Amino acid sequence: MEFIFKPIGVIHSPFTEKDKTPIQASRSKAVGQVEVYPEFVDGLKDIEALSHIYLLYAFHESQGYQLQVKPFLDDREHGIFATRYPYRPNPIGFSVVRLLSREVNVLTVEGVDVLNGTPLLDIKPYVPDFDLRTNVRAGWYETRSRK
Ligand SMILES: C[S@@+](CC[C@H](N)C(=O)[O-])C[C@H]1O[C@@H](n2cnc3c(N)ncnc32)[C@H](O)[C@@H]1O
Repeated sequence: MEFIFKPIGVIHSPFTEKDKTPIQASRSKAVGQVEVYPEFVDGLKDIEALSHIYLLYAFHESQGYQLQVKPFLDDREHGIFATRYPYRPNPIGFSVVRLLSREVNVLTVEGVDVLNGTPLLDIKPYVPDFDLRTNVRAGWYETRSRK
């Protein structure tokens, strides 16, 4: 089975180099613009009432993958699926960002952790009742070698 995804937009960010891009949205105060292509603008109805949204996107500058990697915050190897490392079999990333404003088809968001020009695949609402968990174990992250 194969899937062919076409971007619904593009993420404009201040970052042009991977190693100068924040490693997680929660660690970023950077502001960016999410440009949704005009044919999808009707799908943004009611989005301005949300404080946070998920951006799903393609790591378009990632070539290839390894199944075991050393993530940015640890010196030990972990399975790719136990990490958020960007070189993945399916190079899909996601970020929870704060929605600051909407101007027609352009969303201004805070917490950007992607390269400028990253292709946008989807947007979803962050809904605490759906997504917030307590009593969580974060695995290697809890004993990571870097903070
Ligand atoms: C660790 S990933 C986490 C991204 C996302 N928050 C997640 O959890 O899926 C973030 C890193 O991916 C890299 N990156 C960001 N945008 C990229 C892109 N479009 N293509 C390839 N690598 C990218 C940068 O090195 C950035 O620091």
